[in-house]
Amino acid sequence: MVEDIELAEIKKLATFIKDEFSYDFTNYALSSFKRRIIRIMELYKFTNADQIIQKLTKEPEFSKTLLSEITVNVTEMFRDPSLWRVLRDQIFPNLFQMQNEVKIWHAGCSSGEEVFSMCVLLEENGWLDKVKIFATDIDHVIIKKAKEGKYLLKNTQEVNDKNYVRFEGKGKLSDYYKIDGQNVIMEQNLLRNVTFREHDLVKTGWFSKFDIILCRNVMIYFNQTLQNEVFKVFHTSLFNYGYLIIGSKETLVWCDIANKFITVNNEEKIYKRVRE
Ligand SMILES: C[S@@+](CC[C@H](N)C(=O)[O-])C[C@H]1O[C@@H](n2cnc3c(N)ncnc32)[C@H](O)[C@@H]1O
Repeated sequence: MVEDIELAEIKKLATFIKDEFSYDFTNYALSSFKRRIIRIMELYKFTNADQIIQKLTKEPEFSKTLLSEITVNVTEMFRDPSLWRVLRDQIFPNLFQMQNEVKIWHAGCSSGEEVFSMCVLLEENGWLDKVKIFATDIDHVIIKKAKEGKYLLKNTQEVNDKNYVRFEGKGKLSDYYKIDGQNVIMEQNLLRNVTFREHDLVKTGWFSKFDIILCRNVMIYFNQTLQNEVFKVFHTSLFNYGYLIIGSKETLVWCDIANKFITVNNEEKIYKRVRE
C-alpha cells in the first residue's frame, strides 16, 4: 500500500502531464489530486510518481487511462432532487415566460446521468423541443458512455429511480429506459436536442452563450485560483440574467467576480448573472 507521496513529486508529475499532454492539473485541489495519484499507484503497482512519468514516456496512450483515473466521475440521476423541482417549478417557467428557446450547458457532464435527468424533466413538461443542450466533459471516454446512456440496473434501481420519486416526476423513471440484462438503456430520443462535446474547462474557455449553465460537483476538485478562472468563463458564457447552478458543496461567494451574480436560491446553489 502506498502510504504517502511528496508534494514535489506531485508537482513534477502534474507539470509533466501539462507539458506533454496539455491537461493542466496544476491548479486542481491538492488533497484530492494526491488521493487520486496514490490510488493510481496502487492500482498499477507503481512505487513512486517517477514511474508514472516513465510509463507515460514509453506509452503515451496511457495518458487517456490516467485522465480517466484522475478525474472523479461519480454521478447520479436527479442528484439533489429538490434542485430539479426548483428547475421545473420556478426556473423554466420564468424563462419560458420571456423567451421561446432556452440554451443549456452541462459542464462536466460525466457519464450523462445529469443530462438525462434534464431531458426527462423537459420532456415531461413539453419543453424538450424548445431547448438546445450542450453537454461537455474533459474525458472523451466518459462522453462516449454518456451518449450510450447505458447504466447498471442495480445503480438505477437503488439510486436513480428513488431520486426520480423524490423529484416527483409525472410517471416512473422506468418509462424512459428498457432493461437489458444487468443494464438499463435510456431512451435515445431523449437526446434529440443534445450535443456532446469534449471540452476542457481549464484551457478551452467559452464557446457560446447560454441561459443556464450547470457545473455541479466539478469545482470542488479545483483550487481557488482555478475556480476564479472558471467562474469567469461561466460569466462570459451566460446571457445577462442567465442562471449558474453549481454543486451543493460548492459556493460562488469567495470567487473574484461574486458581485456580478446574485443568489437566487442558496440551498440549491442557483445564481443569476446580473452584471457585465
Ligand atoms: C463528479 S463528476 C460531476 C458530474 C455531474 N455534473 C454531477 O454533478 O453529478 C465531475 C466531472 O468533471 C469532469 N472534469 C474534471 N475536470 C474537468 C475539466 N478541466 N474540464 C471539464 N470537465 C472536467 C470529470 O471528468 C467528471 O466527469
